[in-house]
Amino acid sequence: MKLFHFHFIAKRLYSGSGIIKAQKYVLTKYFQGEPKKTDFQLVEEVLPDLRDGEILTEAEYISVDPFMRAYMIGYKLPVDMIGGQVAKIVVSRNEHYPIGKYVTGSFGWRTHTICNPEKLKGNAGFAPFSLLPDISPYPVSLALGILGMPGNTAYFGMKEICRPKSGETIVVSGAAGAVGTHVGQIGKLSGCRVVGFAGTDEKCYYLEKELGFDRAFNYKTVDIKAALKEGAPRKVDCYFDNVGGQISSNIINYMNKYGRVAVCGSISSYNESCSPKATILQPAIVLKELKIEGFLVDRWIDRWEEGINANLRWLVDGKLKYEEKVYHGFDNMVDAFVGMLRGENTGKAVVKIK
Ligand SMILES: NC(=O)c1ccc[n+]([C@@H]2O[C@H](COP(=O)([O-])OP(=O)(O)OC[C@H]3O[C@@H](n4cnc5c(N)ncnc54)[C@H](OP(=O)(O)O)[C@@H]3O)[C@@H](O)[C@H]2O)c1
Repeated sequence: MKLFHFHFIAKRLYSGSGIIKAQKYVLTKYFQGEPKKTDFQLVEEVLPDLRDGEILTEAEYISVDPFMRAYMIGYKLPVDMIGGQVAKIVVSRNEHYPIGKYVTGSFGWRTHTICNPEKLKGNAGFAPFSLLPDISPYPVSLALGILGMPGNTAYFGMKEICRPKSGETIVVSGAAGAVGTHVGQIGKLSGCRVVGFAGTDEKCYYLEKELGFDRAFNYKTVDIKAALKEGAPRKVDCYFDNVGGQISSNIINYMNKYGRVAVCGSISSYNESCSPKATILQPAIVLKELKIEGFLVDRWIDRWEEGINANLRWLVDGKLKYEEKVYHGFDNMVDAFVGMLRGENTGKAVVKIK
């Protein structure tokens, strides 16, 4: 049945007699507070026939990520919604990209995409373009999570910025999310004490019991300073900051001399219209001689495969676990996006389209 479907589409494209339509989300209003369905228009786009070297892909999984909330303000409206996806090749005029194989790409929130792989190579984007190797029995969606951009964020943020040493204490905020769960596990693999902050008791239970975090605290219900005292008796050497705001000030003020902070994101502020205030950091930075470094994961685009392969190795060896929150249906993109921002996910939030 599926094969028939591919051939049917191929025939229509090659004969030029039919029309292939993609559906896509176009942002027509800047987000204010939480994103809303009315900020988008669902638009149909008629796709042209393929030229030599091009492929037609059909989205299988589309990623919903915090950066989508933070970045759209930088685009002129209306604009196609951005983001990464794992897509199946359904028609090909490129012998290196056969029908049935999967690719990752920064295709945005759309069902079908025509692209020329040779022209996309080397473009970082939100999901660098690549032909997926066979990762069965694992789901291809992992290419949007531990074997993709969030996985590399954890890998390079830890390896190049936190640089944990055995016996040290690492704190990670946003600990139960895609990046946070991964960071904590790398911390354990590095021989460190790992303390996480996440938004529900269930998430904290998962971090301690399933992922081996030494302590995890619900930042919504605990006193942060007391939790730090209890969870990090030797204070904090590395802080992987996914959330920003007051909790980060508390953690940074509780660090040891020469501590390292990897500033990865500030999701606590993404839905806020005015910038929140937090306790001053400079005295701690100076007196403890801290190193605080922000980063974007595409800094390591030249080493992308190194991160993917290291994470794949840990996964196959049973040293790295993952969780996904899978939403279903292209129509549910906005609900999935908002759900992730509200904290519905443990691990990576993705939308299964097919
Ligand atoms: N620098 C880079 O290159 C790079 C790359 C990827 C991601 N990031 C950043 O890394 C962070 C995590 O991204 P991710 O993809 O792994 O997302 P994620 O953690 O899987 O999902 C977002 C999580 O944020 C938490 N959250 C929502 N509102 C919050 C608030 N007010 N305070 C604290 N936590 C809140 C929610 O969990 P709770 O239930 O715990 O609240 C939610 O599950 C984000 O800041 C993102 O922008 C940066």
